[in-house]
Amino acid sequence: MSNVDLSVNIGKLKLQNPVMLASGTVGYGNEISQFTDLSKIGAIITKSVSLKPRKGNPPQRIVETSSGMLNAIGLANVGVEQFILEKIPFLREVNSTLICNIAASSIEEYVECLKILDGQDIIKGFEINVSCPNVKEGGLVYGNDVSAVGKITEKVRAVTDKLLIIKLSPNTAHVSDFALVAKKEGADAVSAINTLVGTAFDIYTRKPKIKNITGGLSGPAIKPVALAKVLEISRKVDIPIIGIGGIMNWQDAVEFMICGATAVQIGTVNFINPNAGIEIIQGLQEYCTKMKMQSISELTSSYNLE
Ligand SMILES: Cc1cc2nc3c(=O)[nH]c(=O)nc-3n(C[C@H](O)[C@H](O)[C@H](O)COP(=O)(O)O)c2cc1C
Repeated sequence: MSNVDLSVNIGKLKLQNPVMLASGTVGYGNEISQFTDLSKIGAIITKSVSLKPRKGNPPQRIVETSSGMLNAIGLANVGVEQFILEKIPFLREVNSTLICNIAASSIEEYVECLKILDGQDIIKGFEINVSCPNVKEGGLVYGNDVSAVGKITEKVRAVTDKLLIIKLSPNTAHVSDFALVAKKEGADAVSAINTLVGTAFDIYTRKPKIKNITGGLSGPAIKPVALAKVLEISRKVDIPIIGIGGIMNWQDAVEFMICGATAVQIGTVNFINPNAGIEIIQGLQEYCTKMKMQSISELTSSYNLE
């Protein structure tokens, strides 16, 4: 056994390791729990929860692309009440840190949703999705507007003392402007990135392969973009960053941490290998031992740009 310290601190929350499961890729944890040991994961981020249940977009909602996937789920979820009644009891049994992702179509809805969830002691933090590309209201409208992201952060900060993460969109010119406003308004951390807007067409029918026409691109195809966004934030804003985008193995996770991430989230890889999180944690441990590091946090922003 190695004695490398894999724990990381984000705001006042200490995670046993830096690997989290990304929102929307593991539902509420129940299905994936058959294939992996959730108690060993750094944290689980829930599918975006909204105030009322949402059916999401009509199918086709997912399509595979070169080195990635396009999805336009449209934030289908059970809504906050069902989430508390039906999903939290299972999540209570899994001994893992739970972070609840929230989506909304108005600032009031974010606040209302968060107020309802804040009393649940099992929820250790919130990730605010201001950046979903697949819904008409909310989503990108907010994710693209610095002052709206500032306002949302300010209002949700006022109703919770728990860890507050703002999930940023890559579909903007300067992601660091958004990280800066999130920090200014009291966020503890930012996560980057959500998916990139993309599309795919069938060349015979000439129709989009996704009913919504566009979807969010994720997977290995977006990793270089995500790394550049994480690096940009790290160089310009002093705030913990959770790196997301195309992480498939421990080497990718290390790369994100070198570029500025304190922790990482894995999404698309869960569909290919639901045990990937555990394998990545093992790989990180072996890497740190090999590199003679005592703590994995030494990796964060350890880039050499000379
Ligand atoms: C099928 C699917 C559903 C997603 N749903 C959500 C969601 O509800 N809320 C959210 O904030 N991000 C959602 N995401 C985005 C992921 O959390 C993540 O930011 C993105 O997929 C990039 O990471 P990856 O390349 O490792 O998948 C979803 C991604 C996928 C593939």
